[in-house]
Amino acid sequence: MKITVVGTGYVGLVTGTCLAETGNHVCCVDIDQRKVEKLRNGIMPIYEPGLEKLFERNLKEDRLSFTTSLQEGIDHGEIVFLALPTPPGEDGSADLKYVLGVAENIGKILTDYKVIIDKSTVPVGTAEKVQAAVAKNYDGEFDVVSNPEFLREGVAVEDFMKPDRIVIGTTSERAQKLLTELYAPYVRQGNPIIFMDERSAELTKYAANAFLATKISFMNEIAQLCERLGADVDMVRRGIGSDDRIGKRFLFPGIGYGGSCFPKDVQALVFSAKEVSYEFQILDAVTEVNKRQKVHLVNKIKRYYNNGLAGKHFAIWGLAFKPNTDDIREAPALEIINALLEAGATVAAFDPEAMENVKNIVGDKIVFAETQYDCLQNADALIIATEWNEFRTPDFDKILEAMKDTVVFDGRNLFDIEQMEKKGFHYESIGRPLVNQPKLV
Ligand code: UDX
Repeated sequence: MKITVVGTGYVGLVTGTCLAETGNHVCCVDIDQRKVEKLRNGIMPIYEPGLEKLFERNLKEDRLSFTTSLQEGIDHGEIVFLALPTPPGEDGSADLKYVLGVAENIGKILTDYKVIIDKSTVPVGTAEKVQAAVAKNYDGEFDVVSNPEFLREGVAVEDFMKPDRIVIGTTSERAQKLLTELYAPYVRQGNPIIFMDERSAELTKYAANAFLATKISFMNEIAQLCERLGADVDMVRRGIGSDDRIGKRFLFPGIGYGGSCFPKDVQALVFSAKEVSYEFQILDAVTEVNKRQKVHLVNKIKRYYNNGLAGKHFAIWGLAFKPNTDDIREAPALEIINALLEAGATVAAFDPEAMENVKNIVGDKIVFAETQYDCLQNADALIIATEWNEFRTPDFDKILEAMKDTVVFDGRNLFDIEQMEKKGFHYESIGRPLVNQPKLV
């Protein structure tokens, strides 16, 4: 099939590449001339495991092309994906200027039937707005469909190729038929394509992310309780996760959720609710708990040093908001770094992929280390902010040798508490008791 993807950000590139992979011809459009030039030359601007290989192959096979011309892109495909940014405004609402701007321009170009698909996460009612924006300049037949993505950064290719489900919001039979054909190769395992109306599809995306964020904030609160009551959140997590109704996944406490989706989508849903005079109380709490959790580790550190952080030197492992990505949007590590610097400490950091991005923000305020062990030189304490696999079973002798003191603050619960104590570390993690820690109650 011939497909157009407008917007070559994270979602657009994954969508375009993965659609080309099953034999479709995909033309991607972006207004950024330099980016398009790079993509044409085979340079992938984002880090996403497995994506580059598919991208190179499909580019070579001529199934993937890039242009800055919306006209060229729209002429190419019968199915047009909009994968444009919807940044949060100051009030938390999603800004639709890019989506609606492009929709209006598409209307000026259309000459025959197309299915226009909202892939971006957009508030309920956006499909109708896109419909109206296109119709301003075009009175022929076309359909607007809401088809939200559920891609996780770090495993986006796998999520696209084998989705748990595909949600398609449209009541048009013609669009349903085309999209069933398009997605057939991706649901061979039997996972469902769920058809619904546009509004329900739009809300499904927000509900999914808000629910997952709620799960995390809930577990972070349980972890807070565990610390106060002398219970172990790892045990509680296993105890509740074995109940199918709760499920084992997404129950890991930590230093708060980050990334481009959860914080933005939770806020946008709260805003949408307010617009229809509904106060989404749970989600207000989810956001508040997350804010608190993001400074929880810093509070532990301050407590340990009796607020005397000036002159201390910290090593941080992990900067990305989660492993297997270079994305640092809303990353808890950044808040930790800022708090430490503000308190007069110095910081050295290591991350396998995200250091360039952090350098662009903090410059030379911190030291960026070549390896995870270089990072530890003369550190008073090690802070773990992202659970990259390579941090899970480190060489503890090397750690002990490099550090000035043997203190570890682990925001991701990577290590066994007793083993750490045996090796001689003072080890604090999230929601798990210190060995020999007296119970508060
Ligand atoms: C999320 C959704 O999972 C995806 O379906 C949607 O399309 C986009 O948003 P993503 O932001 O890539 O994907 O990351 P995800 O793996 O969901 O993690 C989000 C945040 O939650 C991370 O900061 C992560 O560290 C945190 N998290 C996740 C926890 O703190 N505990 C958990 O158990 C799981």
